[in-house]
Amino acid sequence: MVGGYGTVGGELSRLAASAWPLLLTGRRPERGKALAGEVGAEVRRWDLSDPEPFSARVRALISTVNDPDDRVLLAAIRDGVPYVDVMRWTARLQRATAVAAVAPPTAPVLLSSSWMGGVSALVAAGLSAEIGGAAGVEIAIRYDLKDRAGADSVEFMDRLGLDYEVTEGGRRRTIMPLTGTGVVTIGGHRTKVARIDTPEQFTLPLVLGVDTALTRIGFSAHSSTSMLLALKRTGFFRWGRGDRFESVRRSMLSSPGEGGSALLRIDVRGKAGQRRTATLTDPAGQAHLTALGGLLGLRRVLGEDGAAAPRGVVFPEMTPVPRSVVSELEKAGVEVELS
Ligand SMILES: NC(=O)c1ccc[n+]([C@@H]2O[C@H](COP(=O)([O-])OP(=O)(O)OC[C@H]3O[C@@H](n4cnc5c(N)ncnc54)[C@H](OP(=O)(O)O)[C@@H]3O)[C@@H](O)[C@H]2O)c1
Repeated sequence: MVGGYGTVGGELSRLAASAWPLLLTGRRPERGKALAGEVGAEVRRWDLSDPEPFSARVRALISTVNDPDDRVLLAAIRDGVPYVDVMRWTARLQRATAVAAVAPPTAPVLLSSSWMGGVSALVAAGLSAEIGGAAGVEIAIRYDLKDRAGADSVEFMDRLGLDYEVTEGGRRRTIMPLTGTGVVTIGGHRTKVARIDTPEQFTLPLVLGVDTALTRIGFSAHSSTSMLLALKRTGFFRWGRGDRFESVRRSMLSSPGEGGSALLRIDVRGKAGQRRTATLTDPAGQAHLTALGGLLGLRRVLGEDGAAAPRGVVFPEMTPVPRSVVSELEKAGVEVELS
């Protein structure tokens, strides 16, 4: 598990330790010693900025840290080992598919970076199957400012100055982040939300054939969302893109708090206008829910979720979607409200 003693990696290590022997890696393995002792894992140094090849005998590789040079993916392809990632933003997920086109993998490559380690896309696919196919999916995220987020996590603030492509009403168009504001009730909380670039907006139209896939996010405090939107209106996320403003951008998401809840709402519209909604609340927070997505992904690529392991490059919502997703989430303490 690359980044296996970080915020997400640590959660996944605890969830996965009873299923498989674990090898955790990072740049400073001494920081992972306590966790490795707790879960009975081995810990080794692998710095992803170092081109020196890394080798280990493992059954699968999961990356829970940004991998800008695709070193983990390339190592998995080189060794024919199943690979899961839960941390790529859309452009990097698209690049991973290109990397896999150039060096075709012989083992499954699961690109599971849609919001919460693929959980959002899995649940959307489950709701879609229930109503005989979806025409549209809208996701609203309530980001709890008290939640934990590691240094590697806040990099996505840097994406807020970059336009991205969405599919809406059957047409693709390029939009700016933090537009399309609205108020959505997520788990009983009225939440001001605005658009953000997440990978399921790229994969859901391809996999489920939906004509609309939109994801919006808001903070647990209205005032913080309003401040972010006001900053956006000043153009800060464009002119403030360089290194000089990095700490300002990132401080907006860094939260030394005790931890908070992960909350998201997934609305699926059927082809005949039917509607299904799932609201997920993980009191253990975003890192835990993302780790659960990673755990489901590992079972999937190892063929240990009741279905044969997939072949080639797949996204979480590709069939067969494990029927047990909701019950697996509930077993792990996630509250799932379906309507
Ligand atoms: N936190 C969340 O709730 C959340 C939710 C969804 C997705 N994600 C995504 O998950 C990823 C990890 O986030 P996080 O919050 O877990 O970050 P984190 O706490 O900073 O964890 C990163 C881990 O990776 C290691 N690492 C960092 N840079 C490395 C490098 N160059 N080479 C090898 N190892 C490296 C770190 O250990 P060393 O410092 O010892 O190297 C650490 O163990 C991010 O990409 C984030 O966007 C996070």
